[in-house]
Amino acid sequence: MKFFVDTADIAAIKELHALGMVDGVTTNPSLILKSGRNILEVTKEICDLVEGPVSAEVVATEAKDMIAEGMKLSAIADNIAIKVPLTWAGLTACKAFASEGKMVNVTLCFSAGQALLAAKAGAAFISPFVGRLDDNGIDGCELINDIRTIYDNYDFQTEILAASVRTVNHAIECARIGADVMTAPPAVIKAMANHILTDKGLEQFNKDWAATGQSIL
Ligand code: G3P
Repeated sequence: MKFFVDTADIAAIKELHALGMVDGVTTNPSLILKSGRNILEVTKEICDLVEGPVSAEVVATEAKDMIAEGMKLSAIADNIAIKVPLTWAGLTACKAFASEGKMVNVTLCFSAGQALLAAKAGAAFISPFVGRLDDNGIDGCELINDIRTIYDNYDFQTEILAASVRTVNHAIECARIGADVMTAPPAVIKAMANHILTDKGLEQFNKDWAATGQSIL
């Protein structure tokens, strides 16, 4: 499973990238707000750092305006994936971009029917929001599973990009199901390294090592 990091925080991207943990980056208007940076400047900086796809989201609601915004975002770098919302206007823009060979990430997906439409419109990525479904009492991972089945039934090439991944268990479950990509905040990716038994084991090893009175160096 590819790891995209869901942030516009340059320092956090650099830290994970140094460990080979960043196959791409996703941003959205909320993450741009959080960064306090200009969207064009910070997106360019991210694209210069990361070889893989960098999603930059349009904010217009009409297809023609989304297309104009998407063209501007796309001009930032070759690895831009234009992010459009899963509305009829967004699907219209997706089809227009895909016809020109541009990568599109269709976001705010909450149903398998929406995911099917995005694949038909030529999306490179579909972003189902796992955590936000869970927030509303619906099993988000079940949606990932449904989309996996549907895409495999018809050999759609659209990649399933599990988004709104909030926990380590979300990440594991999405990988088990076979999501092509997950995007998660840096803290969730780093939390995957933690286990209580690792901490306990290390504590015991350190204690026993001290008792040997030895030194490796
Ligand atoms: O990039 C979109 C998505 O990952 C948002 O996650 O936690 O705000 O629902 P969240």
